[in-house]
Amino acid sequence: MNYGPLLFLGILFTLASSWFGLVLMPTRQLGALTANTSTNAAGLVVVYPQARNGQAEQGAELYRSLGCIYCHSQQVRTEGFGSDIARGWGRRRSVSRDYIYEKPVMLGTSRTGPDLSNIGERQASAEWHLSHLYNPQITSKGSIMPPYPFLFETRPIGPGGASTNALKLTGEFAVGPGTEVVPTAGVRELVEYLRSLKTSFDLPEAPLKKMESGDDANAKAAK
Ligand code: HEC
Repeated sequence: MNYGPLLFLGILFTLASSWFGLVLMPTRQLGALTANTSTNAAGLVVVYPQARNGQAEQGAELYRSLGCIYCHSQQVRTEGFGSDIARGWGRRRSVSRDYIYEKPVMLGTSRTGPDLSNIGERQASAEWHLSHLYNPQITSKGSIMPPYPFLFETRPIGPGGASTNALKLTGEFAVGPGTEVVPTAGVRELVEYLRSLKTSFDLPEAPLKKMESGDDANAKAAK
């Protein structure tokens, strides 16, 4: 008996079904996702997500090159699948739409440190981030996160006096008199990236967990 046509049909079916399941269906479900537009309680139109500004985008590259992803994830699990929301890592689960402008998506798999999906809301202070990156012990005593002093320039204070953006280092972290530690352009971009990581926006597929009455994160984030 000639099995040729049967073999051909079998292979065709296998390839067609995997194309259907692995290419067509995901593209239909995720490929057409666009930003969501909503109106918050203050009457402001909120578009989420938005493409990052150029400075933050440069910072994302630095985040990637420094390997921050080996210790930090950017994905909040749904309630019931872990304590992510209870830990304050986000106010709702992460969904595909959160990542439509991410190239590449830096989900991360390991959580030696906290999830950073919503760090921009949790910690908005650029000064905090700079001190923390220079030496995590300054802000978080006992932290096992490595310090990144090479992202800063330690230099003699010029004749015009200390730079306005020099780190305020005191106590055991103080540098010698006449010396200052200033952030490089790179670390400022990295901090801009970290501060841009915000997911506290209502989405139809993942509504925000309401904290207390009158607490409108969309209004806060749109400011
Ligand atoms: C070896 C693992 C490790 C690496 C690599 C690492 N971190 Fe961390 N990170 C931690 C740990 C642990 C903490 C929690 C303690 C602390 O705040 O320092 C943390 C905390 C943080 C926080 C504060 C989070 C919060 O919820 O307060 C930020 C922001 C952060 N890291 C950013 C970065 C960036 C940016 C990089 C790359 C330049 C990086 N981390 C690399 C382990 C790491």
